Formats: sequence, C-alpha cells, structure tokens
Amino acid sequence: MTNITEVEISESRGVLSPLICMNNLVVSYQNVVALANINLDIYQGEVLGICGPNGSGKSTLLKAILGLIPPTRGSIRFFKEERQLHSIKHHQDMNIGYVPQIHNIDRNFPALVEDVVAMGRYAQVGFLRRLKKEDPFVEDALQAVGMKKFRKRPIGHLSGGQQQKVMVARALVSNPEILLLDEPTAALDFRVERAIMDLIRKLHQEKNLVIILVTHKMSFLREFTTRVVCLDKSIIWQGSPLDPKLQTIINQLFFL
Ligand SMILES: Nc1ncnc2c1ncn2[C@@H]1O[C@H](COP(=O)(O)OP(=O)(O)OP(=O)(O)O)[C@@H](O)[C@H]1O
Ligand SMILES: [Mg+2]
Repeated sequence: MTNITEVEISESRGVLSPLICMNNLVVSYQNVVALANINLDIYQGEVLGICGPNGSGKSTLLKAILGLIPPTRGSIRFFKEERQLHSIKHHQDMNIGYVPQIHNIDRNFPALVEDVVAMGRYAQVGFLRRLKKEDPFVEDALQAVGMKKFRKRPIGHLSGGQQQKVMVARALVSNPEILLLDEPTAALDFRVERAIMDLIRKLHQEKNLVIILVTHKMSFLREFTTRVVCLDKSIIWQGSPLDPKLQTIINQLFFL
C-alpha cells in the first residue's frame, strides 16, 4: 500500500506526485539477493542518479523497473501524472526507453543500424507487423543522435561510441515517458561522452522525461541529476547531488 502520509507530505510541499513507487522491494536471482528492501518514489521530470559499487544492484533496479525481473517481495507501481486511486498503470502501459550497460556488439552481428533502432518500435507496432521501409520515427531518432548517415551500416562495423549513440536512438524511438540509462558513456572518449550527455540533457529539458541514470561519475551526478541514490543492495543514502555528504558516502562505498 502507498504510504498516505508520504503523499500528503509531498503535496503539502507542492511537489508532484510520484510516477513510480517502489515499496519494500526485494529482488533475488535464485538465492542471491540483489536488492533488499528498496523504498523509492520517483517523480515526473526528475533526473535520478544511481551510483554504487560493482554488484550493488544498479542494473537489477533498472531491469526490475522494466519488468524484466519480477519482484521477489514488495512492489513497483506506476502512476499517471495525476495521481488517483484508480490511476495505476501496468508495465505494458508505460513507454520506457532503455539503454543497457554496454556489451561489445559482435563485429559480424547481421543487423543494420536502422534495424537496431527499429527494434525499439516493435512494442508499438507489434513484432509481426513489419515497419515501413523508411519509418519516420526511426529517421528522427537517428537524426537526434547525429547518426542518420550511418543508417545503412552494419551495427558491428561502428565504433563503441557510435554503437552507444544508436542504442540511445533505439531507446528514444518509442517516445518514452521514462528513460533508463545504464552507464551510457562507460568506455567512451571524452568528446563522445559529452555529446551523449548533452543530448540527454536536451531531451530532458525539451520533453520533461523521467530519467534514471546509472553512473559512477561524480561530475555527471553533479551536473545532470536532480537527486542521487547510493545503492549497496539497499539504499545507503539519498539526497541532493550538491550535498557535500555525497562525496563522503562515495568514498566510503568505493574505497573501504
Ligand atoms: N542473471 C543473474 N543471475 C544471477 N545473479 C545475478 C544475475 N545478474 C546479476 N546477478 C547478481 O546480482 C547482484 C547485482 O548485480 P547487478 O548487475 O545489478 O549489479 P550492478 O550494480 O549493476 O554492477 P556493475 O557496476 O558491475 O554493473 C550481483 O551480486 C550479481 O552477481
Ligand atoms: Mg550494472
């Protein structure tokens, strides 16, 4: 059940109601508990930074939001912008864009850039209905990340940074309400990293999306996020990215 006091408090502060509510969420893989007792509300327009050491459950949290891994206990619920008792949405009603943690794409992977981006549209047009050859949404998403001229190239023939931009285009093509980014710039050079983060900032400003960004980079947390959650299986700390305590917490989490 939603904590009514929490709702009342947020309303009295003039803050929007949450779009996503996690209550006592536990996620396990067989007998490994990856997330324990997560209570987290995420609000419209937030850019939520998630940080934590390797294996702390960051990717699992994103996969649980996507509905790829069911909660072992507790719940994740979605709400429409105006919260009402009957306004709960299901995973399948939410438009969620996802940029997974980078895996090197096989050089011989037999798909063109435009096909990879089009995969992000199948949830809307259905797997069995073919997209029109020149889908305008695919074109627009490639244009947004500056990769339109590469659309006929095999994805495996692109550099890591170019592949990552294609993955951002794939996440954007369904015009998502929520964008989940799992270390979207890991292993990219400084210039490409900036280009991707500037693109994400622009999208946030133009579309007021909810963005959940997993990153280890203090500079990204400070510059791009409105709130930071430090994770180590459970929530260790959360607060403003400008709070001086954040650096102390990160030092403890990463250098103990
Ligand atoms: N498919 C899986 N099967 C079993 N255990 C898993 C699986 N995926 C993750 N885990 C375990 O769950 C825990 C959390 O993993 P997760 O991938 O969420 O961590 P992370 O914070 O994203 O780490 P990283 O910084 O390395 O990406 C780890 O102990 C991991 O070994
Ligand atoms: Mg991860």
